[in-house]
This record gives sequence, structure tokens and C-alpha cells, in this order.
Amino acid sequence: MSIEFIRLSPALGAEVRDLDISQPLSAEQVAEVRRAWLDHLVLVFRGRSLSDDQLCAFSRQFGTLDAVPAWHQYHVPGQPNVLIVSNVKEQGKPIGVLGDGEAAWHTDMSYIPLPPTASLLHALEIPDSGGDTYWMNMYAVYEALPAALKRRIAGLALNHDSSTDSSGEVRPGHKPVVDASQAPGVKHPLVRLHPETKRPALYLGRRLHAYVVGLSVAESEALLDELWKHALDDRFVFRHRWQVGDLLMWDNRCTMHRRDPFDKAARRIMHRTELIGDAPVGVAAA
Ligand SMILES: [Fe+2]
Repeated sequence: MSIEFIRLSPALGAEVRDLDISQPLSAEQVAEVRRAWLDHLVLVFRGRSLSDDQLCAFSRQFGTLDAVPAWHQYHVPGQPNVLIVSNVKEQGKPIGVLGDGEAAWHTDMSYIPLPPTASLLHALEIPDSGGDTYWMNMYAVYEALPAALKRRIAGLALNHDSSTDSSGEVRPGHKPVVDASQAPGVKHPLVRLHPETKRPALYLGRRLHAYVVGLSVAESEALLDELWKHALDDRFVFRHRWQVGDLLMWDNRCTMHRRDPFDKAARRIMHRTELIGDAPVGVAAA
């Protein structure tokens, strides 16, 4: 039976049906899923119940698994590649990252030299309401920029701050940022050429403490405000309401995502894997 891909929004996203992902896929199936993932940016598998070993085995068919960073300490015991995203506390201590608040728009781990290619997130427990996740198509955001703005940003680099997570918390071992031009992190091209599709995408990472290299902080803030104002438009966005058993797989090279807050008293547990990426390559200045 051939795999069915059902488009979920004009912006991006497709649901994958008629594919058992708890077992190894054939080479043809891997190629077909990969093509659909590159075309749709986010793939949604529903009603699955994968063990951590199955989640890792499925993920590995699309790249090399990344280990959860040592400072996180929130991987599943015995599973160094599986991060727990959760608000649940046991004996007063969180079992995972991100809590129950809003997570601002971001691209996963863009503040490291080799940001992950893909992230895969599997829902084990979810609240009755809230906690929806949204993805943005950064190819479309770039394509829709005015030509003059495209010319202005070609060849520019952005510093991706590593001090603060997407819930606004300062990461362990970091100091709060006072001057964005001095923020720790890694510089990547502002316009990124996707290594597989060869399409340009705006690579914003996250807004807080971002800095366009070579500009004054005021000029950088003004340019970033203009780019973010353009990007924050529903026409570029797909919204996902989670169900237990969902597995979502997305391309970090051409999407951003954010999460709604949810009820503190509710439980939300998700397991995430990531695939090691390569160094972002920019588009040459015009
Ligand atoms: Fe994320």
C-alpha cells in the first residue's frame, strides 16, 4: 500500500497515513517520507505509541541522533538521545524542560555551530486544552519579503544568543544579557540556503537578544523588528492541536515553532529526538 500524505494547511504540514513507523521502513519508504518532509516541512503521524527505542530507531532512518546536551540533565534515564519536554514534577523536581508557560517563536538550538536538521516530538500525555504548537514556513516568509529588504539582508549574519531558552529562562551557567551585541552564541547567515532543497529561507532563530553582526544595536533592533513584523502573519503558520500518540517531525532549517501555555495543574509529557545538522550556508550578497 502506498503512503498517503494529506496536506494540513496552506502554509505547511502534512499528515502521514498508512505507514507503520514502529517497524523499520524500506529504503523506498524512507525516501518517500523524506521527500514529503522536504516538501511539507512538518510531518504529522497520529495514533502511534512508540517506545523510546522505537522513537530512536525511526529517527535514525533520517540521520544521526544527537545526544541531549549534558547541561540539560533531562534525558530519559538510559536514553541519552531522548529529551523530556514536560511540566511534570516528581518529588518537587521537574522531570523535563520548558514547564507550562508559553514558548516563544524559535528554531531548535540555532545557537550552536551545527544546529539540528530535524526534531521529532512524540506526545505521551497532553492537557485537555492549551499547549498547541505552531510552525512557520521560513521559505515563504523569505519569498514574501519586499525585494529591497531581500537585497539589504543578503550576506548579513545574525548572532543566535545561547544564554536564554524559549520560555525566557536564563540557561545554567549563563548571565542575563544586557547588550545584545555582546550576547554569547553563534553567528549564522540571516538568509540560509537549504542544503537539500537549495531554497533560501529566513533564519531568525529567536527574537530575544538576537543581533545582526556589524550594525549598531539600534540598527540591528530596527531591522529585526521589521523582519519579525513581516514574519508574524497567520498565512505562514500551521497550528497543531496535540493528541496522545502524535509524532511530529519537522525541518529546523526552514521552520520556526512556538507553543501556547497550558494549565499548570495539567500534565504534559513529550519525548523528543533530534538529528545532527550541518553548518548553515548563506546566500551570497547581491
Ligand atoms: Fe523547540
